[in-house]
Amino acid sequence: MNLVTQFAYLVSALLFVVGLKQLSSPATARKGNVMASAAMLLAIVVTLVEQDVLTWTWIVTGIIIGSLIGATAARMVKMTSMPEMVGIFNGFGGGASALVAGAEFVRLQPFGVLPLGQGSTIMLGMLIGGVTFSGSVVAFGKLAGWITGNPVTNKFLQAVTALIFVGLLGVGTYIAVQDPSMVLFLVFIAAALILGILLVNAIGGADMPVAISLLNSYSGLAASAAGFILGNMILIIAGALVGAAGLILTNLMCKAMNRSLANVMFGGFGTEGATAASIGAGDKTARSVDAEGAAMILAYCQSVVVVPGYGLAVAQAQHDLKKLCDLLEERGVDVKFAVHPVAGRMPGHMNVLLAEADVPYNQLYDLEEINDQFKDTDVALIVGANDVVNPDARKPDSVIAGMPILDVDYARNVIIMKRSLSPGFAGIDNPLFYMDKTMMFFGSAKPSMQDLVREVREM
Ligand code: TAP
Repeated sequence: MNLVTQFAYLVSALLFVVGLKQLSSPATARKGNVMASAAMLLAIVVTLVEQDVLTWTWIVTGIIIGSLIGATAARMVKMTSMPEMVGIFNGFGGGASALVAGAEFVRLQPFGVLPLGQGSTIMLGMLIGGVTFSGSVVAFGKLAGWITGNPVTNKFLQAVTALIFVGLLGVGTYIAVQDPSMVLFLVFIAAALILGILLVNAIGGADMPVAISLLNSYSGLAASAAGFILGNMILIIAGALVGAAGLILTNLMCKAMNRSLANVMFGGFGTEGATAASIGAGDKTARSVDAEGAAMILAYCQSVVVVPGYGLAVAQAQHDLKKLCDLLEERGVDVKFAVHPVAGRMPGHMNVLLAEADVPYNQLYDLEEINDQFKDTDVALIVGANDVVNPDARKPDSVIAGMPILDVDYARNVIIMKRSLSPGFAGIDNPLFYMDKTMMFFGSAKPSMQDLVREVREM
């Protein structure tokens, strides 16, 4: 490798690390994304030129075509379809790494037993890449509604997947160190693909963001393995960064839901069958409020903390919510937004939604920052959120016991905008609905918010 390439790889690696760091805050995330993309472009171009793979004409043509496809896709994909897009990108990444492993196997196989280092990285790359590819295709299918979103599982599934995994390790080792038979290699590929399908098919649609984050990490590990196969340093570094970042994100999501990864993968949690009839019935009563009443409380209070949730995204009411908050601020009300790490259905869902409506980042507060402030807050306005504000999480026997929640029940008044008393993702009742200080503002968030804006404007 010549000096220019080495230097370009070093710059690229630095840009990856700094870019990744910038992704940790919404204020710098866009810059981080641009940096990391520039790093990848630099690494690819330098590799293509150094290895004499393509001429500059083809490289520039590729950049133009790729940019056009990327820009069009980015403009067309709806925010709510982001998890699908990330899911399929992971699949492409895993598939590409598996192809590299396959190509290297085909090249080396005629020479007999594989060189030790090469053999193990080829089999590892094929295993992780294959599982990532087929698992991501299933994840994409579930999120796009092409495959059932229900967990597809049975009592033998864990034993079967464990058996396939152990079989893959055994056969992979045999191929790597003993006999690089083409037939065995094809069986290995098929089994890796089946393992990916079985693992992801067993996860419910609503848990898919965690699975996608894990698959993202796998795609990074597969890329790293491809880097070892090709002896390419920057691919090893980039893959390791993606692998580690994906694992950290998966861990953060599991912690914020207070569930283990095994529970997400095999638990079949969040069955969406519970109905309003079976939940919230009995002698408990919830007090309701209309747009006029809610507007009165909001317009004449001093502080409001807005808690957005999945329902806000479904209703696409973020722009109307921003209008309401602007009106309240004009009246001198202090408005803040409390963002729970797993509110919604994908990492950063609420941040993306609020950014789309131009809510300033400095009005957004994390769970740890805001929880102490609820006791001094006049109104907690909850828009389409449920589990993330369920006080039952403080009870040890609850399904969501231990899940960190936003302490909205400590606010002086609570207004909840949702359509009914139905449960959220966890499928359990929420005692917050029946507290004396709580007012339920029933209706879909968008028309409700529009009514609220009209009422406040007229005051
Ligand atoms: P949920 O607990 O799922 O509650 C959302 C609420 O939105 C529902 O109760 C629903 O009530 C309401 N809703 C639906 N459509 C609406 C509309 N058009 N207008 C107004 N409200 C509407 O959501 P959350 O509080 O955001 O919590 C997220 C949950 O997802 C957590 O349990 C979390 O563990 C889980 N989860 C999150 C992630 C990530 S990464 N974010 C990943 C996996 C799982 P109605 O039907 O009565 O309207």
